[in-house]
Amino acid sequence: MTNILYKNYVNGEWKTCKSKKSYAIYNPANTKEKIGSVQYSSDLDVAEAIEAARQSSKTWSETPAPQRADILFKAHRIIQNRFDELAESITLEEGKCIGDSEAEVKRSLAVIEFMAGEGRRMHGYTAPSESQGTLDYTYRKPLGVVSVITPWNFPLAIPAWKIAPALVCGNTVLFKPAFSTPITAIKLVEIFEQAGLPKGVLNVITGSSSEIGSSFVENEIVKGISFTGSTEVGTEIYNMASKSLSKVQCEMGGKNAVIVMDDGNLEKAQESILQGAFGSSGQRCTATSRAIIHQNVFDDFVKGLVSETRKISVGPGLNRESDMSCLASRQQLNQIQEYVDIGINEGATLLTGGKKIVDKGYEDGYFFEPTIFKDVETNMRIAKEEIFGPVLTIFKCQDIDQAIAISNDSEFGLSSSIYTENIHKAFTYIEQIETGIIHVNSPTLGGEVHMPFGGIKSSGIGNREQGLEAIEFFTEIVSVYISH
Ligand code: UN1
Repeated sequence: MTNILYKNYVNGEWKTCKSKKSYAIYNPANTKEKIGSVQYSSDLDVAEAIEAARQSSKTWSETPAPQRADILFKAHRIIQNRFDELAESITLEEGKCIGDSEAEVKRSLAVIEFMAGEGRRMHGYTAPSESQGTLDYTYRKPLGVVSVITPWNFPLAIPAWKIAPALVCGNTVLFKPAFSTPITAIKLVEIFEQAGLPKGVLNVITGSSSEIGSSFVENEIVKGISFTGSTEVGTEIYNMASKSLSKVQCEMGGKNAVIVMDDGNLEKAQESILQGAFGSSGQRCTATSRAIIHQNVFDDFVKGLVSETRKISVGPGLNRESDMSCLASRQQLNQIQEYVDIGINEGATLLTGGKKIVDKGYEDGYFFEPTIFKDVETNMRIAKEEIFGPVLTIFKCQDIDQAIAISNDSEFGLSSSIYTENIHKAFTYIEQIETGIIHVNSPTLGGEVHMPFGGIKSSGIGNREQGLEAIEFFTEIVSVYISH
């Protein structure tokens, strides 16, 4: 039990919120264990943070970009020094396996390093002019004050990949971490403070999205909003932000499919689907939630998947023997159970899993069995909606065209994958598949920090995250004509 109260950080000070209200965060693997408390802030606290960000904006934007980048490099070193503590913090509040948390810290390091390098690039370009004695060129200016709103499933990496580019580009930031996983996020802010970030440049306010979320969006001072979360909330933010013409970047849901062709490497395909569906308990927007298997290999492949799934050892994330940990919250547990019931009622066949684990030692955590359905039709809710948990739906296909059609029959378009050794099929797939991230012979999961990340259709709107696209989002490009 710990009674640490993690405070808001506004204008360079750790502050108690105006209402003085707080709420506790519990370990989802053992809800008897309290990890700490955070503030239950109100709009008044957000307003104060907006003012701090506004006031510090000019000086920060005028600080040379390589100097801004130096602070990112320092933050990088501090994260290296606090590596184990941060990984443990992620597992304690989100629940994921410690190996996944370590991968998340590594990814945060990689993205901060990449974005720090941009402090010495952030290029514009020169162009010939139509007029004599004239120089045409472009350069990048920060947007000003931006809001960063992040989800609970990557408490460190998603904040890092939004905040690092925002800062290096010279923006000042209002940060609203997820309601259920704010502690790791606050540690990241602490790290930027230690790294020497001037006051007011990064401000964090914790609380409930339904109460304070709109203040991060509906304010004419806020010029950019970077959001990751549900398509429902992202759409609302996009609407709200249009009133003040703020730039918006929303990274939202997914319903990612892996296609397995009869000429594919079936062993690799199996591993990829298991990892994609059940890694991090399926709670990532790039998780594999659909598998589309060629009819010639269907029966044996599905049999193999089910038998491997039954071997997955589910247990607390801090235990290195666990292959899969718990769900992140009671809300998640209820949602997953509800979708399993929906699938059964819709007539899909439950092959394995489908229940909360109630064995001794598991009763105080949100543990759920890895679950597989077959006989799934594309019009069923479990085939269409994002379940965001360890539930895989299986489809049968006759050929590549049908496989692509099934995969594209979705409102979402984040990530996808195909297993084939046939180059023609691979390129047909790349050309026709409707997702922002395309894998050939690799899992739907993740992405590399120097590559753009995001989806099409209902999965994303605005510039992609990470890679150079992040710099595109967090800057305005201006065109300059100098006649001498
Ligand atoms: C990943 O799956 O490795 O919220 C990254 C999410 C995504 C990030 C996923 N925005 O799950």
